[in-house]
This record gives sequence, C-alpha cells and structure tokens, in this order.
Amino acid sequence: MAKSPVTVTVTGAAGNIGYALLFRIASGAMLGPDVPVRLNLLEIPQAVKAAEGTAMELNDAAFPLLDSVNIYDDVNQAFEGSNVALLVGARPRTKGMERADLLAANGGIFGPQGRAINDHAADDVKVLVVGNPANTNAFIAAASAPDVPADRFNAMMRLDHNRAMSQLKEKTGTPISEIEKVVVWGNHSADQHPDVSYATLAGRPALEMLDAEWLSSYFVPTVAKRGAAIIEARGASSAASAASAAIDHVYDWVNGTPDGSWTTAGVASHGEYGVPEGLIFGFPTISRGGAWEIVSDLDISDATRAGIKRNIAAAQEELDAVRDLGIL
Ligand code: NAD
Ligand code: LMR
Repeated sequence: MAKSPVTVTVTGAAGNIGYALLFRIASGAMLGPDVPVRLNLLEIPQAVKAAEGTAMELNDAAFPLLDSVNIYDDVNQAFEGSNVALLVGARPRTKGMERADLLAANGGIFGPQGRAINDHAADDVKVLVVGNPANTNAFIAAASAPDVPADRFNAMMRLDHNRAMSQLKEKTGTPISEIEKVVVWGNHSADQHPDVSYATLAGRPALEMLDAEWLSSYFVPTVAKRGAAIIEARGASSAASAASAAIDHVYDWVNGTPDGSWTTAGVASHGEYGVPEGLIFGFPTISRGGAWEIVSDLDISDATRAGIKRNIAAAQEELDAVRDLGIL
C-alpha cells in the first residue's frame, strides 16, 4: 500500500539554498525512495512570485513522489500539519561579516516561526534550522515552542562535519565512505572545534596518520573558515553544499545512522561534556528510532575540552546579544 505523504515545510524557498534543496527533497533523497512528499513553501510576500516559479519547475520535473506544492506568506498556514520543517529563510552574510553580525537581521524571524510550529505543526515535527546564526536561531525557535520537546529543534552542523571529511579525504586519499567518527563540536561559526581524536580512516586511527601541526594549523582553520572562503570565491554564501548537508541531516534523523558510526548534529544539550542544558551544540550523535542520542561517554583531550569551552562562550555571547536586542 502506498504511504501517505509527509508534510515538509521549507522557509526561504525562493532563495539559493531553497533552489538546491527542494528538488532533492521531491526526488526522495531526504526521506527515502518510497515516501511521498507534500511541500509547503514559506516566503516573504516580495519573493512569493519567485517561489511560484520554483514550484512550476518542481511540478515540471514530474517527480513520482511529489504529492503537491503549496506556497504561503503566512507563517501559521505554512507550518500546518508539518512533519519536517527546514528553517532556511534568513539573510546570508556577505564578505567581511561574521555570522554573529546576522543576529539583528535574522533573530526576529525565528520566534514567530517557533510559535507557529508550536501551534500548527504535527505532533511528531522535526525542525532543522539552517538560517544563520543557526545554533542561536534554533534556540530562539525552541524557546518559542514550549509544547514541542527541545530535542526536536536542531541546528545544522552537518555541513561542517562534511567539510571536515572532505579535508581528510583530500589529505589522505581515504574514500568518504571509509572515514568514521569525525565530530565538529560547538557552534556553526569560526569558533567551532573540528576534532579527529576518535576518527578512523579506512579502519586506522586518524591521529596515527596525520601530524599534529597539519591538524592545528591547516585542518581546523580550513574547516572552521570554509564558509568565508566560499563567500570570497563565489561572491555568495554556500548553497548546494548546504542543501546537501540538510538532506544528509534529515535523512539520518529519520532513517538512523549506520551501526557503529556517528555524525555531527547541533542538538540541545542535557549537560553532556559540561555544555549548559538547552544550548544547541554540535555533538557526536547517533540517530535511532527517529531521535538523536548524544555520544556522552568519550574520554576527551585537554584540547577538545578547551574547544568545547570556547564554543560554550561563543554560543552564550550570541544568546546575550539576542537578549539585548529583546528577541529572547
Ligand atoms: P538567500 O538570500 O539566497 O535566500 C534566503 C531566502 O529567505 C530569500 O528568498 C528570502 O526572501 C527568504 N526569507 C527571508 N526572510 C524570510 C522569512 N521571514 N520567512 C520566509 N522566508 C524568508 O540565502 P541562502 O543562500 O538561501 O541562505 C539562507 C540562510 O542559510 C542564510 O542565513 C545563510 O547564512 C544560511 N546558511 C547556513 C548554513 C549552515 O551550515 N547552517 C550554510 C549555508 C548558509
Ligand atoms: C557556511 O558555513 O557556508 C554558511 O554558514 C554561510 C556562512 O556565512 O559562512
């Protein structure tokens, strides 16, 4: 028997990430090859026409799994019955800006969206925040949705995780499929702490194959500053790789991570590794039965402990800034 459609709400649907994301959702790449999708697109009124153009193309692609596409500029309608919500719609940074500079521009978007999710989404809703600064925006949305468990609000750290794997592949030639147990701790900002302490490359400990100097002087800053490097090169913020990371994140959340492996997800802390409860933080995570579990029993090095501490401070600084702006 055919499955009933899953309602997926995508905000910022007419933007660059939206354009790279929607076609992959409709193809089945995000939820699976036998799951029909009902797409609800949310845009600001000025961009509704552009979203209509994207919807025309989605329909013209004749995806067998695409049940329907609906476009809204009303936040409550857009989240009605939503099972999966991808909060992408927000301003991207441009050359020279740090992600924290986006707080004033974007922070105000996520309170009303959190409230609309609280009041209108399905009971099983899963929310992934992509719009920057993603961890803080996810915190704002979660804080505005008291009836939805905080564990259902994630921030996208998967792009950072994928970037780390890509650097390891480039350095060692190890295929991506044989790179395991990388993690990017913390905030999706230049403070993030990419960590290969537990990683294996084709079964061998990464720390035996990589020298400490390359890790600290090249690997960590290259991964942490990759977003800025892409803005510098393209003249625009990463879009297709961000969309791909969102697909990976939700796929794993819904379908589970492979046995014996983990990934990085930005999830609400329950106090693991000294991260204050509720902070949405990049952790090593395993997905089972539609829920993330934080891998909480790792013996962490002094460098990792320092990286986590730096990220707690960065995340709290962003939260203080939104409190000063009256957003929280
Ligand atoms: P874009 O400017 O191309 O598109 C953003 C879209 O959002 C626009 O169409 C705009 O009209 C829409 N929008 C703005 N406010 C909205 C609202 N209140 N409701 C609904 N839609 C709204 O930007 P983009 O390149 O698609 O990037 C989107 C966001 O994703 C940016 O904040 C960017 O920094 C962020 N991003 C995050 C990651 C990550 O890893 N977490 C990676 C890349 C980009
Ligand atoms: C990225 O990491 O590519 C995005 O967060 C965009 C940015 O501002 O860096």
